[in-house]
Amino acid sequence: MASSLLRPSSLVIIVGIILALTFQFVLKPPPPKLCGFPGGPPITAPRIKLRDGRNLAYKEHGLPREKARRKVIFVHGADSCRHDAVFATLLSPDLIEELGMYMVSFDRPGYGESDPDPNRTPKSLVCDIEELADQLNLGEKFYVIGYSMGGQATWGLIKYIPHRLAGVALVAPAVNYWWKNLPLNVSSQGFNLQPKRNQWAFRVAHYAPWLLYWWNTQKWFPGSSIANRDMSILSQPDKDILSKLGPARRPYVAEIRQQGIHESINRDTIVGFGSWEFDPMELENPFLNGNGSVHLWQGDEDKLVPVTMQRYIAEKLPWVHYHEVSGTGHFLHLTKSVTEDIVKTLLATDAN
Ligand SMILES: *[C@@H]1O[C@H](CO)[C@@H](O)[C@H](O)[C@H]1NC(C)=O
Ligand SMILES: *[C@@H]1O[C@H](CO)[C@@H](O)[C@H](O)[C@H]1NC(C)=O
Repeated sequence: MASSLLRPSSLVIIVGIILALTFQFVLKPPPPKLCGFPGGPPITAPRIKLRDGRNLAYKEHGLPREKARRKVIFVHGADSCRHDAVFATLLSPDLIEELGMYMVSFDRPGYGESDPDPNRTPKSLVCDIEELADQLNLGEKFYVIGYSMGGQATWGLIKYIPHRLAGVALVAPAVNYWWKNLPLNVSSQGFNLQPKRNQWAFRVAHYAPWLLYWWNTQKWFPGSSIANRDMSILSQPDKDILSKLGPARRPYVAEIRQQGIHESINRDTIVGFGSWEFDPMELENPFLNGNGSVHLWQGDEDKLVPVTMQRYIAEKLPWVHYHEVSGTGHFLHLTKSVTEDIVKTLLATDAN
């Protein structure tokens, strides 16, 4: 048996070649539909050109840049885009004025009107964000809010450019079960709290990323809940808030995946659950002087990012201010009072 596996007969080789030729069309994602190109969506947003020629679309909120005392960059989650900046849009104009706040959100690569980045890593996203800050003249230091899958980039900012940060809020940041300093019992406990369909999709993203496009588009068995927009796996507080806000909450929803699912949703999953070159648990406090602070907000009824993992991370990183909001889920930030708390707490410390 072993020898026949090692030295396959010519029949096995021929069958293998036929299977590979058959499946390459199924496994290979179609090329993304680039914005502004024939067959692609139109360009409607302002965009900056990045070092490697990619374009990054952005949207500004709050006070005009020149008037603002505090500048915030918002990093959106999976299956979202620059329009999802509720940390600016849910606040009253009076509060924005009082805080002196300007916010910029941007489409992460492959979403909305930003060009895809097939070579994306947590670090490349950090470079994109720094370039955005510099091209918009946000100054020496800026605040960052990273939500859910936006957590990849936000942990990356603390790792790679801490000197540019005035303060950081991580809101329900995605946890990578393969971070190397997570004890196996903690990561498997968290992993097992995920719906089965996501457990499988995350395994595929980690071990066989080339299979993920097919996995998330085939109809034989359930692919990831995010790729398939399955809301049934959410916790009750999340379902309640979504039904209260109604389907008109995101009129721009069609723009999110307009360039295709692979370089947006799937790339997020592949990067988010891949092998990282660093582990948030080995980060050091970037604000030794009290010259800023890092906050982590988490709902205790979040079914997409297990609260047990977040508690473990907060315990390992005592300089992270941990805020657990009871009775809320992954959409804790869609409640105005929570959003206000997050923004006010973040902007309470002045960097300079
Ligand atoms: C905060 O102050 C410490 C000590 O002076 C300094 O090393 C660090 O770079 C500062 N952090 C930021 C983010 O500016
Ligand atoms: C994991 O194992 C450690 C050491 O044996 C133990 O202290 C801890 O409670 C365990 N955690 C979980 C979530 O099982």
